[in-house]
Amino acid sequence: MSDQSTPTGKVVVNRAMSLDGYIAGPGDAMDWGGGRKLADYAAPEDFAKIAAATGAMLIGRRTWDVGEQMEADEPGSIDYPFTGPFFLLTHEPPDPPDPAVTYLSGDIGEAVATALDAAGGKDLEILGADVAGQCLQRGLVDEILVYVLPVLLGDGIRFSPPGLATMHLEPISSVRSGDATILRFRVRK
Ligand SMILES: NC(=O)c1ccc[n+]([C@@H]2O[C@H](COP(=O)([O-])OP(=O)(O)OC[C@H]3O[C@@H](n4cnc5c(N)ncnc54)[C@H](OP(=O)(O)O)[C@@H]3O)[C@@H](O)[C@H]2O)c1
Repeated sequence: MSDQSTPTGKVVVNRAMSLDGYIAGPGDAMDWGGGRKLADYAAPEDFAKIAAATGAMLIGRRTWDVGEQMEADEPGSIDYPFTGPFFLLTHEPPDPPDPAVTYLSGDIGEAVATALDAAGGKDLEILGADVAGQCLQRGLVDEILVYVLPVLLGDGIRFSPPGLATMHLEPISSVRSGDATILRFRVRK
């Protein structure tokens, strides 16, 4: 664990979202309509700044699989400028395991603590609706960062799985970034 002199980063749920509240289209499509990727919407410097503040990622198995499929279909399509450690939550790690990934399972609080520790004082990004929902439900999230994209998808994967309790958020900032709007909220605890 971190000693007291090491600053602790924030736990941040980081999402791109259509204006009508979908984080992916039907069939997990992440092209945001017309084949446009997230990086085509947000200003590159904002994207780079957020990535630079990130020290580790905690990712749900489904999100990981969608990313792998996107890379297989179109190499280079996952172009997020992040090079830190990846923690993948799954009940069934692949055989053989990917040496670049740490596989975690079980208690979400322990998984967040492990990944946050590895972030070395930077932020921990939480990726995946199910995983983020677990983190929100347990009061583990400090901030929600949403890239609101100017598209109505009409259907797909919602920001949160059904059943999440009402939560109150405190607005931090709202910034236009290219064609996206970056909203930040602090989660009230
Ligand atoms: N727009 C964006 O910015 C954005 C960001 C991230 C994801 N997405 C999209 O969101 C979708 C995926 O989200 P999702 O909610 O369906 O799934 P997810 O959160 O990515 O993954 C859920 C899976 O993770 C594993 N898992 C979760 N908690 C666990 C725990 N405590 N212990 C062990 N394993 C655990 C389970 O997989 P197993 O039991 O199968 O191992 C579970 O089915 C995809 O379409 C993705 O593209 C969009």
